[in-house]
Amino acid sequence: MAVTPKILAFAGSTRAESYNKKLVQIAIAGARAAGAEVTYLDLRDLPMPLFDEDVEATEGLPVNARKLKYLMLAHHGLLLSCPEYNSSITAVLKNAIDWASRPSPGEASLACFAGKAAGLMSASPGALGGLRGLVHVRAILGNIQVLVIPEQVAVPRAFEAFGPDGKLKDSKQQAAVERIGAKVAALVAKLNG
Ligand SMILES: Cc1cc2nc3c(=O)[nH]c(=O)nc-3n(C[C@H](O)[C@H](O)[C@H](O)COP(=O)(O)O)c2cc1C
Repeated sequence: MAVTPKILAFAGSTRAESYNKKLVQIAIAGARAAGAEVTYLDLRDLPMPLFDEDVEATEGLPVNARKLKYLMLAHHGLLLSCPEYNSSITAVLKNAIDWASRPSPGEASLACFAGKAAGLMSASPGALGGLRGLVHVRAILGNIQVLVIPEQVAVPRAFEAFGPDGKLKDSKQQAAVERIGAKVAALVAKLNG
């Protein structure tokens, strides 16, 4: 493999006990087992104001938006575990995407996203596991030139889905989430080889 795949992984939740933060760890393990270098980011550590074009025009990008962009630019791929709020993407994830989509002076359009590979997953206490939100996240990322792999996993009844070791109790589900990490690693390697 010519290039070590570098993947940034985070959940679209800031909640301390977030199911999606747990879930993305499983995909991270899958990506690492496949040879990727993975950076885990907790969006709670990068609080950003709600995107405001006037603030952007007068003050530029907030420091944490710049930190997020720096991280994204340093990685070839994304693993995102996306909670579903009211059948869609969470505000914290959309806000992070909106800030990261804004070019710094002299930067190529959508530099944080274009040509990147991504894998998606979700977990929810509900019966659909956040599946409806993933439809929207996939569309958003596709429209900003991210190659989102077709495989995805939505984990329902998340309050009882994880064992004390952090793994999913359903071994097939566990393997499917690990596979998402491995597939993103493989795609990144192909795209950047
Ligand atoms: C404003 C709001 C809207 C929600 N809407 C949905 C929903 O449409 N579908 C769903 O499955 N869960 C919904 N939930 C429940 C979340 O799935 C649940 O809070 C979950 O734990 C959030 O993910 P996290 O554990 O990673 O923070 C909603 C929660 C909130 C706070």
